[in-house]
Amino acid sequence: MPDAATNRPALPAEIARRRTFAIISHPDAGKTTLTEKFLLFGGAIQMAGQVRAKGEARRTRSDFMQMEKDRGISVSASAMSFDFGKFRFNLVDTPGHSDFSEDTYRTLTAVDAAIMVIDGAKGVESQTRKLFEVCRLRDLPILTFCNKMDRESRDTFEIIDEIQENLAIDVTPASWPIGTGREFLGCYDMLRDRLELMDRADRNRVAESISIDGLDDPKMAEHIPADLLAQLREEVEMARELLPPLDLQAVHDGTLTPIWFGSAINSFGVKELMDGIGAYGPEPQVQAAEPRQIAPEEDKVAGFVFKVQANMDPKHRDRVAFLRMASGHFKRGMKLTHVRTKKPMAVSNPVLFLASDRELAEEAWAGDIIGIPNHGQLRIGDTLTEGEALRVSGIPSFAPELLQNCRAGDPMKAKHLEKALMQFAEEGAAKVFKPVLASGFVVGVVGQLQFEVLASRIEMEYGLPVRFEPTQFTSARWVHGAREAVEKFAAANKSHMAEDNDGDMVYLTRLQWDIDRVARDYPDVTLSNTKEMM
Ligand code: G4P
Repeated sequence: MPDAATNRPALPAEIARRRTFAIISHPDAGKTTLTEKFLLFGGAIQMAGQVRAKGEARRTRSDFMQMEKDRGISVSASAMSFDFGKFRFNLVDTPGHSDFSEDTYRTLTAVDAAIMVIDGAKGVESQTRKLFEVCRLRDLPILTFCNKMDRESRDTFEIIDEIQENLAIDVTPASWPIGTGREFLGCYDMLRDRLELMDRADRNRVAESISIDGLDDPKMAEHIPADLLAQLREEVEMARELLPPLDLQAVHDGTLTPIWFGSAINSFGVKELMDGIGAYGPEPQVQAAEPRQIAPEEDKVAGFVFKVQANMDPKHRDRVAFLRMASGHFKRGMKLTHVRTKKPMAVSNPVLFLASDRELAEEAWAGDIIGIPNHGQLRIGDTLTEGEALRVSGIPSFAPELLQNCRAGDPMKAKHLEKALMQFAEEGAAKVFKPVLASGFVVGVVGQLQFEVLASRIEMEYGLPVRFEPTQFTSARWVHGAREAVEKFAAANKSHMAEDNDGDMVYLTRLQWDIDRVARDYPDVTLSNTKEMM
């Protein structure tokens, strides 16, 4: 039977039960706490507190470096798989720090939905908005969790209005909070007509839900004081009148977000959200690719690399490429074709990430994320298939916003430095440009912190002290056009020209004036601030 909402063929059961998503939020809204509760209810961890370390590590720069050193933690948390009821959840971690927005963007190409966590007292914050905009570019379905309802929070209508106005997305309440702060009792489940009360005694337990026969059920009064009950009835009635009802198609189109209210730290509202992800978070979706798109139900396996993590084990220079399965049923040992190089690749040691462990993946289905250890063959944007020359599209590389020169402390070590920088470039941690005329390298990143992380990693992983120094250049643009025009342009602007880490030509700019001048003087050449990874 085709799916009524998507008008696509029904997926094989194993694929249809997969939900692959990421959590987006402003720092401190509760992403780590919510992740931990997901894992707890998904049976992936036994006790709250195990993921905590990571959330805390992000807080300060020095701790962040420590986290980078402690690759085990950050990597196993990059993608986590666990079961919840009949569903298999794949939770893909988005980097916490705002400096890594490009990485975040690419992570979001690997998921089918995003959970937006907001703080009930603060509403939509800057980083939430930024991440939301990235999701919007891909019309990614968004489910919203309004957290920290156990604290004094804003009026429910006000929160919903703010999301609607600020993010230009319709909101439909899946639950409605009863009271706020110390008076917060729980929520009325608007989709299932149930009362969910919060158990403040045990933060890892969830109180039983109470079946209710509509808002007028006399049982309500047994659990809710009269004033709060009157308020709840009035608000729910108003909400049902004023706010749009749940419409699955609109959720999948990314134009409507259902919102749940809860308190992650008290494990409250989390199961309802998880049920919601199961019920409304979409199944694995069709993947944009060239020359044709890839449907998850196809028999043949296809997948693409959206993240590469190097030096997980400093003793072995191995890298793990994270592959999102786009179609088919993968089995360990399969020989796949690496489309970019057209070479066969036996995938014999793929790993699945379960909370704090990783284990060999004997199989994986469309929607899953597997890690493939390799020695640098796999790059971000690469596609693996069973032979067909398909290339997943839509994984861009952005022009960096900050540039600096990078030099080895010891000039004799320039070759080593090149190797180290190329590795980070392949990981997607930086852009590396080799100027045509000048010696050394220009390194481009999105946020200042990345320079510090890079310097520390190059020293740690390659034993190579490096210096980052200011450069006259402020940005880089990829150069496109007919070969002759591009060559003429490059020859006349040698002091601006460089090659990126894939050997593609870039124009390094100082001021907007440079870009305007090129547009005026070289109408046959275009400068672009993104490039498709392939
Ligand atoms: P993040 O990953 O989005 O940055 O947020 P994280 O989960 O680390 O949570 C940020 C802070 O908010 C933590 O407090 C956490 O305990 C608290 N928190 C999370 N969910 C809730 C909730 O439902 N209610 C309340 N009242 N607080 C919540 P912290 O003081 O920074 O850390 P900790 O000392 O509690 O570990």
